[in-house]
Amino acid sequence: MSGYTPELKELIKKVEATRPARVEKARRGEHFPALTMDERKKWLDNYHPDFKEEGRRAVAVGPNIGTIMPEEVAFALESTSRLDTKKINLSKADYETDLLVIGAGGAGTAAALAAADKGLKVIISNKLRHGDSNTVMAEGGIQAADQESDSPYYHYLDVIGGGHFSNRPELVAAMANDAPLIIHWLEDLGMMFDKHADGRMVVRHGGGTSRKRMHSAGDMTGAEIMRVLRDEAKNRAESIKVLEFSPAVELLLDEKGAACGAVLYNLETKEYYIVRSKAVVIATGGFGRLHIQGFPTTNHYGATADGIVIAYRAGAALEDIESTQYHPTGAIYPEQNVGLLITEKVRGLGAQLLNIDGEQFCFPLEPRDVESACIIRECTDISKGVITPTGRFGVWLDSPMIDLLHGEGTIKKELPAKYIQFKRYHIDISKEPMLLYPTLHYQNGGIKIDANGRSAIDGLYAAGEVTGGVHGRNRLMGNSLLDILVFGRRAGLNAAEAAKTKSNTGKLSLAHVDKFSAELKKAGVKNPSVGPILLPDYAPEHVKTRQWG
Ligand code: FUM
Repeated sequence: MSGYTPELKELIKKVEATRPARVEKARRGEHFPALTMDERKKWLDNYHPDFKEEGRRAVAVGPNIGTIMPEEVAFALESTSRLDTKKINLSKADYETDLLVIGAGGAGTAAALAAADKGLKVIISNKLRHGDSNTVMAEGGIQAADQESDSPYYHYLDVIGGGHFSNRPELVAAMANDAPLIIHWLEDLGMMFDKHADGRMVVRHGGGTSRKRMHSAGDMTGAEIMRVLRDEAKNRAESIKVLEFSPAVELLLDEKGAACGAVLYNLETKEYYIVRSKAVVIATGGFGRLHIQGFPTTNHYGATADGIVIAYRAGAALEDIESTQYHPTGAIYPEQNVGLLITEKVRGLGAQLLNIDGEQFCFPLEPRDVESACIIRECTDISKGVITPTGRFGVWLDSPMIDLLHGEGTIKKELPAKYIQFKRYHIDISKEPMLLYPTLHYQNGGIKIDANGRSAIDGLYAAGEVTGGVHGRNRLMGNSLLDILVFGRRAGLNAAEAAKTKSNTGKLSLAHVDKFSAELKKAGVKNPSVGPILLPDYAPEHVKTRQWG
């Protein structure tokens, strides 16, 4: 029994018809030609959502006033506070600590561990449970130039090229140089990397890489990283306290404008809590749940742009915020899987992208933005997309090639999570291809930081997806799991140094929130939303009406 409809099964026959010749060519090392630089630019200009005029506008207030960005992001940045600042009593803190880390995914937990190593008392606050984050959902791998034929120099060049030369070089250098250390650290923490029988790490290519440097743990690399980080944080419970279901809704600044804590909202008791700290690290992740340009997303439920909203209100500038990453391969069938990530590792293992006629139309490992543009072009201008029963367009990813190229059982071994995700709906991806279209995956830009994770606000540090500048306008696969750990550790260590020099903090203040509200009024922003939104609102109107009575 197959989960595909009879119509889709008919179309799969075209994929099967071209498969033997394609497998033969792949065995000979022949591949579809990559685009030239001029073609890449043309494809991006014409088909990538970031290059469309519709759905984008200038933000009306704040440090980035005038910057054109997705309107969902502009709308979020132009929001007003959830707090009535006059009613919040800041004279007494509910919690006092050396360092407050906002966000308990990979970046936040790495920052907390680094600061605890320096002898600090740390509080981590998280919107949901410890580890509920994009980290835990990351599949394909983590890049590090630790093989003989590689060096951080090549890694650096790949990242800069992938980002179309828009990255900040000092951030890229920090990431590429720290990468081998991060792999050692993860191994020391007990991470189970994929290894050959002789103990060497398995490494693969990702899109846009000149060397094989993708380290993985099956197709659950992020979950394995989060497992060891969370365990280590638990082992350090005397230094690290975790507050779950407690998202930050505003930063607190002192009278000199330095960050000195945050207001948290307890989602269970619906109470606000004041945390006073000597320094703050923001590591809240990205904005996938804003569903930019109506795209589905790979992101976790809490990815609602909180970090950029509260930091922007406090005066932190954003970098590259106009750029959004659409992962080329998001599932579009069955409907229950729509938007879910199909890791780039599937293409790294040899699966090819095909149109409705079973023909290849692009090199499968172009940088992500280019690959997405190729798929959108095939489904729109070329009209060679496949239509699902619910009216979605997409292309095939010929996963059965993997077992043919590498031996039976490879899919089950290398891609266990993907195998199960489809098997649940009676699709065996080792025998049948998958249907895909680009899905909103990553916030390329964010809070502007230096190589030590410092923002422009004294005492405020940031790390991971909430920041900008590292990946420029396009991130390559496997550099996000790396970024969160490199900059999480750097932010934690540097925040710790800064916190140690402070004997106490100044007077807690929310004056910046009132100032921002005044700016919104002055700019004539009508009906601003309330932000951060904290959780996406998916309830249909009839359900809401029932809830309200
Ligand atoms: O395709 C993937 O496995 C995604 C990895 C990433 O975004 O780094």
